[in-house]
Amino acid sequence: MALNDIDIDFMEGIACAALAAKMHAECFSPAWDEASCASAMTIPGTVFQLMSLGDEPVAFALYRCLSGEAELLSLGVLPEYQHRGYAGILLDHGIERLVASAVHLLFLDVGVENLWAQQLYRSRGFIEIGRRKDYYTHGAGLEDAITMKRVL
Ligand SMILES: CC(C)(COP(=O)(O)OP(=O)(O)OC[C@H]1O[C@@H](n2cnc3c(N)ncnc32)[C@H](O)[C@@H]1OP(=O)(O)O)[C@@H](O)C(=O)NCCC(=O)NCCS
Repeated sequence: MALNDIDIDFMEGIACAALAAKMHAECFSPAWDEASCASAMTIPGTVFQLMSLGDEPVAFALYRCLSGEAELLSLGVLPEYQHRGYAGILLDHGIERLVASAVHLLFLDVGVENLWAQQLYRSRGFIEIGRRKDYYTHGAGLEDAITMKRVL
């Protein structure tokens, strides 16, 4: 699939909650259900980013923007589309959109064991600014988070 077949859209409001929940469930466990996504989307400044190839959803991200700063709440590439550079393309477009909206700082949390995601963020200029103990729950297990930031 050529790069010019990629579509990237930005949406606000609860209409995208069902799709956000479906995609989140394919990328994460435990997943956010539709009610959680709808609740997130009602908070002002929350933006859902969708990458598609033709009619096929491929990747998503959720951002929350407030007073010139933003948080990357979640980002995922559906398993069958991973390792093809799509996360990098998604994040680059997301950052372009944030800059156009006068956002100058982007924060995120990533699991200490999630080395691929850390590589993605480091390659895009994010730096570690702190750690959160036992931030993520996986079944009975816990995982610390690395908090990262990038000046846009
Ligand atoms: C992490 C995730 C978003 C990466 O998506 P992707 O489209 O496969 O990533 P890309 O192909 O754009 O690669 C991004 C970086 O990850 C690294 N990477 C990807 N696949 C890799 C692999 N198989 N082995 C080693 N590194 C890999 C690459 O080094 C790349 O870095 P680069 O930009 O410096 O080349 C994807 O695996 C995912 O959705 N995982 C589940 C959800 C998740 O963990 N999200 C992040 C939460 S913070």
